Amino acid sequence: MKILIALVVSGISLIPLFAEDVGYAGSGPARGLSRGLDPALKDAPYRNPALDIEKRIDDLVGRMTPFEKFKALHCRSTSSAGGIPRIGLSEFLTCDGGVGPRAEERSGITYIPSGIAWAAAWDPALAEEAGRVTGEETRAVFPGWEGGSARMLLGPGGNIGGRTPFGARSFEYLGEDPLLAGRLAGRFAKGLQSVKVSPCMKHYVCNDQEWCRTMINVTVGERALREIYVRPFEIAIREGGVWSIMNSYNAVNGEWTSWNRRVNDILYRDCGWDGALLSDWGGYRNDLRAIAGGTTLDTNCTDDPAQYRREVEDLKAGRISESDLNDQLRRVLRLFFRIGAFDRDTPEEKRLQARCEQSFGGADHAAVARRAAEESLVLLKNDGAFLPLDRTRIRKVAVIGPGADQRYSLASGHKVHQCGGAAAILPIAEPTPLEACVAAFGRGNVVYAPGFRYDVRSGRSTVPPMAERDPVAAAKEADVVLFFGGTDHSYDHEAAGWGVVPNADKPGLDLKGPQAELIARVAAANPNVVVCLNLGAPVSVQPWLASVKAVLVTWYAGQFGAEATLDALLGKVNPSGKLPYTFGRRLEDWPCHRMGEDVYPGRIGEWPAKVNGLSLFAKETYADGIWVGYRGFDRDGIRPEFAFGHGLSYTSFEIASAPARGDGTKAVRVKNVGGRAGRCVVQCYVTKTAPGVEMPAKELVDFASVTLAAGEEKTVAFRPEPEWLRYWDERSGKWAQAPRGVLRIGEASDRLTVQMEL
Ligand code: BGC
Repeated sequence: MKILIALVVSGISLIPLFAEDVGYAGSGPARGLSRGLDPALKDAPYRNPALDIEKRIDDLVGRMTPFEKFKALHCRSTSSAGGIPRIGLSEFLTCDGGVGPRAEERSGITYIPSGIAWAAAWDPALAEEAGRVTGEETRAVFPGWEGGSARMLLGPGGNIGGRTPFGARSFEYLGEDPLLAGRLAGRFAKGLQSVKVSPCMKHYVCNDQEWCRTMINVTVGERALREIYVRPFEIAIREGGVWSIMNSYNAVNGEWTSWNRRVNDILYRDCGWDGALLSDWGGYRNDLRAIAGGTTLDTNCTDDPAQYRREVEDLKAGRISESDLNDQLRRVLRLFFRIGAFDRDTPEEKRLQARCEQSFGGADHAAVARRAAEESLVLLKNDGAFLPLDRTRIRKVAVIGPGADQRYSLASGHKVHQCGGAAAILPIAEPTPLEACVAAFGRGNVVYAPGFRYDVRSGRSTVPPMAERDPVAAAKEADVVLFFGGTDHSYDHEAAGWGVVPNADKPGLDLKGPQAELIARVAAANPNVVVCLNLGAPVSVQPWLASVKAVLVTWYAGQFGAEATLDALLGKVNPSGKLPYTFGRRLEDWPCHRMGEDVYPGRIGEWPAKVNGLSLFAKETYADGIWVGYRGFDRDGIRPEFAFGHGLSYTSFEIASAPARGDGTKAVRVKNVGGRAGRCVVQCYVTKTAPGVEMPAKELVDFASVTLAAGEEKTVAFRPEPEWLRYWDERSGKWAQAPRGVLRIGEASDRLTVQMEL
């Protein structure tokens, strides 16, 4: 074992320069054998938790060997990072967590709704609460340090799931609008950080589909990149700091994102972000290129002293620049200080850990999960105020559809990738809609006739045994039919594996399997059909919409999804969620689907030459530019089935302009003119104009929600920001300000009743 190659005098202590195993060997009295903190560092300034983090970094950088510096830039294993005992850096775990910490071996975790559900709730404060709860659960489920302690949750998602309704991970992302996505992601991150768990917002950038995600080059114009795809990250950084971000597997404009200095500098230089950029698992690909490209931490790797030694040689030979190394080192150390990885024994750290462990699976966490499930429910249609149901007038309920007896978590006994991949969880409990119906109506009043079921393992539908009830007969004899369907994780999941993964994205816009036909059949037998759809992205509702009374969307809403749904059907909860996606009528309504295979999903092709020494095997061009979601529908004059921001309530609101307040804000009065309390999400869009530049007809710039009792009225004020008029000017290659803008405010993007000059 090579121990010490050189010593330099740092002014305070002797530090070894190129010792391969110095991370474990101290330079103190028990030199070479100690596995703990170098005694010479015991009172070093960086070890003082009261000192400003930047000062701690300044002090520590000068005490680390080049070998240790490189070691700090690589994970220790599939999921752990940190771990340099000589300097007192604890090892810690990173943990997936779309819906709570993914811990396959630990049950009892609070299962919060998926990203798309928070997006549908349009409630940043709630997203922050969900972040805190998830952070506390993450710390509690993996307690203690040294590889056993989780201090980083790999989320939230910040990709634009609304580019295509086919993206199989859209349920982890936050809809089609960059402001909505960025604000919610930022607040979720803030919640995690409040308990010293780092978020790792993912996947930066243009990873908006699963098909060929590890090998595709996305060609995207600068305006779309800035205004649509980077923007959620930019906003999240502003709203929540976001201690770390994960880059994507794909390439952007000819360079893997992990090597992509241009794209990464948008975060570093333009957004002034001081966080750590992690590669997606295994996406680092080459250390020289990744360090030069701005990636901070290599993931999914083994602890490899030979590699760190090689990197030290690369540094000496100038193949790695000192300034790139120092920049990334400071970023990773900042992350380690922020999560407390140098402060494991402080009373504050111990108190926080004890608090997290006490709160695990507790009532406070359940309350947040429940509220999130309730607020995320989107009532798409409610003919003649059919909902809420009057429980006293219902004797028989037919429960039909493949989603009725479905769980979406690992509680179903499936494997991780069959339950959403990175968003898999083993929760406290997850009652199914059928169980919630039995609890609400009484066993004797519920006739269960699914029609068919899905096997999540194979994704195929199975016809139940003959003994089960015929759904049409069940519908005929019921007072009301509750149909539960939509998608499941055989559609909505991370692509498992590298390269061309079969069925990585969804195959079509239609409801999976024979659901549409089944709805039509039961609706012909009974006019009182309510359709409840579990969805991660828009689907076609056209074939059956006119024949049913009501439609409620429930988005992978966590452990209380089914109970919240029943509460909404029975009026204990007044639905208040709003669509985070535009629901088109036909696939061609989405620009990227109209423009051919090159624009979505891309094509596998021969590359004329290697790009940066590597062959990329698939390519896609975001020729739809900024015309994503409602921006595209508006430009092309396509009337959607349901507009972005749409969502009905059991009450009604009126929104009218309010007199100017003299404080620079733009205010509206919101009145609940219906008969029951409800939450109104007030949405504020801008229409900006600049000569010679094609602008979206409207863009979301702000939103706020207000809860009002029947008859109550409140003022909601929006404070204009210069950013509201900002656009990326392709002629100058810079941000520019539009000279004029009009604000349009209302309850949905197609119900903007108030207009005022900016
Ligand atoms: C996914 C990430 C995930 C990571 C670790 C990758 O394949 O794209 O979202 O966090 O694996 O599981």
